[in-house]
Amino acid sequence: MSAADLSGRRIVVSAGPTFEDIDPVRFIGNRSSGKMGFAIAEAAARRGAQVVLVAGPVSLPTPPGLQQRVDVRSARQMREAVIAQLPADVYIGAAAVADYAPAEVAPGKIKKKDEQLTLALVRTPDILAEVAVHARRPTVVVGFAAETHDVEFYARGKLEKKKVDMIAANRVGVSGSGFESDDNALTVYWLDGERALGPAPKTALADQLLDLILARWPA
Ligand code: C5P
Repeated sequence: MSAADLSGRRIVVSAGPTFEDIDPVRFIGNRSSGKMGFAIAEAAARRGAQVVLVAGPVSLPTPPGLQQRVDVRSARQMREAVIAQLPADVYIGAAAVADYAPAEVAPGKIKKKDEQLTLALVRTPDILAEVAVHARRPTVVVGFAAETHDVEFYARGKLEKKKVDMIAANRVGVSGSGFESDDNALTVYWLDGERALGPAPKTALADQLLDLILARWPA
């Protein structure tokens, strides 16, 4: 890795969770802290890339050197923001996008009444899959996968189904790794290879992931 080995590259990174509103005071969300995506954005900017970070609702400071940070809340907003940033050289989808959102957002606070309440949910747009087949598809499209079992099977399935170039799968069961931690362990899969990274701080993993991307897609 050299200081400016990503200079001239335009990299779009999505990070954090998405929140899907149920009513004005409630939402469906997930436990992503955004740390992995923010670390990738920071490392890419430090290495000279023009970085746009599309961030879900997180409480993290903006890394230095970004070209732009776009804050969004829902999967739908994240999709709009990411697509608006194309074309790019690389898209790294590190966000933990909610898979389902309420079919309707109640205009007022839903009051408790019956013993049971059923919420109708609809699928959110799959941003990664859409970017990967877009007319302005980036040269390299990288996704993440959080799996609890059969990690390789599901990660390779995602490579094929979502037509992406690399999937970085979180290795679960490694102490200190995961959603809210500062450390993580990843196995990165591509069509004819794989590489285990970490366990290491997310900042170090970010550089190692960028190294892998550069090695496979040199300028
Ligand atoms: O299918 P799964 O949610 O496990 O895939 C994870 C990858 O897909 C991540 O890179 C995530 O950012 C992306 N994704 C997305 N839009 C969705 C769901 C997941 O971009 N609606």
